[in-house]
Amino acid sequence: MRKLFPLFCAVLFSAAIHANEVAVAPDVAPDGLAPLGETWLEANPYRGQPAAVSVGRAAYNQACARCHGADAATNAAPAPDLRQINRYCRRIDDAELNAACMRDNDAWFAKSVRYGKVIVGVTHMPPWQGVLKQELAWAIQTFIEAQASRGRE
Ligand code: HEC
Repeated sequence: MRKLFPLFCAVLFSAAIHANEVAVAPDVAPDGLAPLGETWLEANPYRGQPAAVSVGRAAYNQACARCHGADAATNAAPAPDLRQINRYCRRIDDAELNAACMRDNDAWFAKSVRYGKVIVGVTHMPPWQGVLKQELAWAIQTFIEAQASRGRE
C-alpha cells in the first residue's frame, strides 16, 4: 500500500490539472497600456510600468491562478511557480548580458503562453493564442516580475 501512495498522489495531481485545461479569456481591459496589434512582439514592451502591474494582476488571477497559484505568490500550486522563470537573468550583473538574457526569457515566455504545454498528446497547459490578447499576456508577465522582486530589496 505504501508503495502505491506516490502513484495515487500523481494520479490525483494530474487529474486536478487536466480537469480544467481549457483556456478562458480573462475579462480585463488593458487600461493605460499602449495597444500592440495582432502580431506578437518578442520582448515585453511594458516592463516596470505600474499600469501593466495592475492590469496583469487582474488578468493573472482570472486566467492563470487556478493552476499557478493566487497572486503568483506560492510555490505550492500544481503548476510551476512563475516567479522563478527569469531567475537566471536576475543573477547576471553585466547590463548587456542581462538584456540578452531577458530577451531570451521574453521570447520563451511568449512561446509558452501562445502555444501552451502539450506534451505527447497531454495538455499540461492549454495554448492561449487567439484567447488571450498579447497586451494582457505581457501585462501578466510584468505583474509576475513585480511579485518576484518583492522581498528581494
Ligand atoms: C490548466 C492549468 C494551467 C493554466 C490555466 C495556466 N497554466 Fe501555465 N502551465 C501549466 C503547467 C502544468 C505548466 C508546466 C508544463 C510543463 O512543464 O510541462 C505550465 C507552464 C507555464 C510556463 C512555463 C513555466 C516553466 O517553468 O516551465 C509559463 C510561462 C506559463 N505556464 C504561463 C502561464 C500563464 C501566463 C497563464 C495564464 C494566462 C497560465 N500559464 C495558465 C498549467 C497551467
